[in-house]
Amino acid sequence: MSVIANRPKGTQDVLPADVYKWQTVERCAAGTAECFGFKEIRFPTFENTALFKRSVGDTTDVVQKEMYGVTAKSPANGKDPDDLTLRPEGTAGAARAAIENGLLKEVLPQKVYYMISCFRHERPQAGRLREFHQFGAEMYGSGDASADAEVIAMAKSLLDRLGLTNVELFINSIGCPECRAEYHKALKEYFGKHKDELCPTCLDRLDRNPMRILDCKSPICQGIAKDAPVILDFLCDECSAHFEKLKASLTDMDIEFSIDPKIVRGLDYYTKTVFEFITKDIGAQGTVCGGGRYDGLIEQLGGDPLPALGFAMGLERIIMTMENAGSEFVPARKCDLYIASMGEAAQRRAAVLANKLRAEGYFVEFDTMGRGLKPQMKYANKIGATFTMVLGDNELDAGKAKLKNMESGEQTDISLGDSFIDEFSNDLIAEMFKDPLDSI
Ligand code: HAM
Repeated sequence: MSVIANRPKGTQDVLPADVYKWQTVERCAAGTAECFGFKEIRFPTFENTALFKRSVGDTTDVVQKEMYGVTAKSPANGKDPDDLTLRPEGTAGAARAAIENGLLKEVLPQKVYYMISCFRHERPQAGRLREFHQFGAEMYGSGDASADAEVIAMAKSLLDRLGLTNVELFINSIGCPECRAEYHKALKEYFGKHKDELCPTCLDRLDRNPMRILDCKSPICQGIAKDAPVILDFLCDECSAHFEKLKASLTDMDIEFSIDPKIVRGLDYYTKTVFEFITKDIGAQGTVCGGGRYDGLIEQLGGDPLPALGFAMGLERIIMTMENAGSEFVPARKCDLYIASMGEAAQRRAAVLANKLRAEGYFVEFDTMGRGLKPQMKYANKIGATFTMVLGDNELDAGKAKLKNMESGEQTDISLGDSFIDEFSNDLIAEMFKDPLDSI
């Protein structure tokens, strides 16, 4: 069907029939985060562009090629318009909010999680969208490798709870600014020999930030990067010891991992530990979770120096992986009672009874379309109502109606008077706890 304007490329609609999958993941993620002492934080969808340039880094693909600017139609009071950008990720916004609101001056560690939409102008494909959603978690204040292990354990715990066993953990250390300086020299020397083959963006990166060449998406640059020196050979003693402690802690917790010295991540703020959880089940975009330590970012954004770390999971990719693995989603809540009505008086009474039950937390519907009994019952079947009840003049006169269990067909009398709620609750509870052997 043609509509005035179609859905923009690289975006998705989640329809009511599918939203239970999202709710399963979101609730499970929030529940897991809370078990680890993380509290939810919410922050704006757009921020000053400078925030992303400073944190994500102005030589990254994200900043150079993928950000969506936000422009207001009319600049306020003739002033220059603010330079704003839709968030391409959550770490920068969460850190900005934590600094600006004094969170990092409170008790440490501060642990926050978020469920957000992010925007990156990438070429859309399966598992890669222009608007996508992340569950992210950030921990501020600990420089110890036990915090790295804790954050990885939390991501792993969520993946396990969602039934995603076919996801592998890869870790690496990209060192601190000191060891990175030596590494940059080695990279410059290596890529310098391939100057003529690098793409124009990477040629610029060669001087400014040669590590970024390692995650260029151009196949030619990727081919050259294959034989580049690896950072693990350049780690200083402190970074090596940190990495060793992380590996030992993961082993203590029986969290399996592989070391992948090629992981450098596509964002500039990382220091020391970086990690990714990858599945082979959903095609080329199989990184379901990425994260790491970013000990310099808080100071860089204007806060007091404070170590920090975190991760984010792509919710679309998590759901795709769950669908692929046949994981269970918590089904959408079913309607407890559908009240069919014949005539206006019955319909008005249905509204009153429905609202009484809803006030007690029950899920109740009645006819608001003015349809006949048959289509009303068809609708009740379609929505999978557990019970139905028909109200007409006879029922109103008698002050009672028949409550029908839609699965068994069994009917019981129910009073429409003061005991209505109690009688309904008893029937519903009996239905919920009925002996499964009864139906044999
Ligand atoms: P990231 O690796 O850029 O890291 O993104 C995290 C996750 O978001 C990816 O592993 C992937 O699952 C999902 N994702 C990224 N881009 C897309 C896309 N275009 N379409 C669908 N899913 C996507 C970060 O964003 C960091 N802020 C993570 C972090 C938090 N590091 C420390 N704290």
